[in-house]
Amino acid sequence: TPASQIRNFCIIAHIDHGKSTLADRMLQITGVVSDRDMRAQYLDRMDIERERGITIKSQAVRMPWQTDSATGATETFALNMIDTPGHVDFTYEVSRSLAACEGAILLVDAAQGIEAQTLANLYLALENDLTIIPVLNKIDLPAADPDKFAKELADLIGGRPEDVLRVSGKTGVGVEALLDRIVGEIPAPVGDADAPARAMIFDSVYDAYRGVVTYVRMVDGRLEPRERIQMMSTRAAHDLLEIGVSSPEPTPTQGLGVGEVGYLITGVKDVRQSKVGDTVTTLRRPASEALAGYTDPKPMVFSGIYPIDGSDYAELREALDKLKLSDASLQYEPETSVALGFGFRCGFLGLLHLEIITERLSREFGLDLITTAPSVIYEVTTDTGEKVVVTNPSEYPDGRVASVAEPMVKTAILLPKDYVGTVMELCQSRRGALLGMEYFSEERVELRYRMPLGEIVFDFFDQLKSKTQGYASLDYEPDGQQEADLVKVDVLLQGDKVDAFSAIVHREKAYAYGTMMAERLRKLIPRQNFEVPIQAAIGARIIARETIRALRKDVLAKCYGGDISRKRKLLEKQKEGKKRMKMVGRVEVPQEAFIAALSGD
Ligand code: GTP
Repeated sequence: TPASQIRNFCIIAHIDHGKSTLADRMLQITGVVSDRDMRAQYLDRMDIERERGITIKSQAVRMPWQTDSATGATETFALNMIDTPGHVDFTYEVSRSLAACEGAILLVDAAQGIEAQTLANLYLALENDLTIIPVLNKIDLPAADPDKFAKELADLIGGRPEDVLRVSGKTGVGVEALLDRIVGEIPAPVGDADAPARAMIFDSVYDAYRGVVTYVRMVDGRLEPRERIQMMSTRAAHDLLEIGVSSPEPTPTQGLGVGEVGYLITGVKDVRQSKVGDTVTTLRRPASEALAGYTDPKPMVFSGIYPIDGSDYAELREALDKLKLSDASLQYEPETSVALGFGFRCGFLGLLHLEIITERLSREFGLDLITTAPSVIYEVTTDTGEKVVVTNPSEYPDGRVASVAEPMVKTAILLPKDYVGTVMELCQSRRGALLGMEYFSEERVELRYRMPLGEIVFDFFDQLKSKTQGYASLDYEPDGQQEADLVKVDVLLQGDKVDAFSAIVHREKAYAYGTMMAERLRKLIPRQNFEVPIQAAIGARIIARETIRALRKDVLAKCYGGDISRKRKLLEKQKEGKKRMKMVGRVEVPQEAFIAALSGD
């Protein structure tokens, strides 16, 4: 297809505003998926995506669309739709997808209006110089208020309310008109067809049968089957086994030219060999300069993942190795814990990423796991001036700390004005500094705070939702490190540290954290033959204490003279219980107690 007849676009939207449903309708209306084969969320391939109704990996699909030109002749265009994830954790993937497009549909739920990720994604699209087509979705809903939100949307992007298209992804109303506007308004891609080949990788997924499938957008030149291709960041060369387009099933072609979007298969087994953001060229005629800069996505949140049954350790390692094949942003290394045994310290892009990985581990690999409280990256300067990066509280250089810096984020919260007071209180209690406040309409306000990331990873989102009856939305971006008065709180059982419960918290919150953990453990740990003090401490200073009183009665006492089989049963039961006990010093703690204490209320 000549570049003049190609349109590359993406749909950007807040979560649940109906992106996948609209994509489904486009597939159907353009005829690439027959009515018979249609199923909801056609493009979300992973089970977990479909169940939770969220898009994790971007996908690209090519659709034919015919329009009548001014002269009355029919012209056929190739529309490449590049799906983008809507959640904050995956902003990195969104920005790579946007770089592969010339235009974006800004999709807004006509019953909800603009939300935090609508804004975040719009700003990303504008940074990439994309043409924006504003669209209100779900106009079939009784609660839809398209007049009001068309104005809101027009104000936001500086257009006229009558240019805001009204569609329903569910019924299909307005979708044909939208396809026409894509052809009419989004510029055709431009590139140099005679230059050495340059293709940008905007996604790379692992397929159990075909190995890594790399999605590219051709910028210059042409790639053809059986060519030897080269990754510009690593200089690694691979044989191109197959090249094609998804429509939406993979269809091999004779090559990809300027502006086209398609996939490459090289037989490589590891997505790290085919990095999102990298430039592909050919070994025969390599390009001299890679496309715009590549940066690795950096993990922001860390957590220990342990098998509940220690003998699953090897399986857990294998499962992580497999997930890493398709998710280059997942990081892990072995770690051991007194309380939890052998496991892995894992790094994630954010909390949702953490949740998705642990859920995939348990669902796809059948593993029973326990995860420790999420931690962020602390930069500790010791009294000798040495800098230590701490992602695990148990690595904190106790007693040698001169200062600690924590990661900060800039957050944007969109909410109805009635909740402003409550949310401000919440943000202040999380050490937020107000940056600004803006009215989007009469009812809707944007609050901007600078906050420690560590305060957000700890159930902030849940609190925000419950305090606003679900009406607030949140987006955040990293904003450097900042020094703070942070301390490490340890939890001790009979004087022995239980590493999995150590946490780095603000000094003002240390007492609350210590008391909470000590109380929880007192309720969860069974009584022993001796008294067990539970303490919370900052260094050598005890800040909270609870006591588990000693067990007095011998459990077997009441069996003396009684039924011998009952006695044996009791002993066996005890033995079974022991298997899942962990020793902390002399104290026997059932594994379940650790798990319950870590998972909170
Ligand atoms: P993420 O992939 O999680 O970002 O969500 P999404 O934006 O793809 O939203 P999705 O298409 O999954 O739609 C979210 C919900 O809105 C689903 O329950 C849809 O059935 C519903 N929905 C989507 N479009 C329409 C529409 O036009 N009308 C109505 N009434 N409901 C819709």
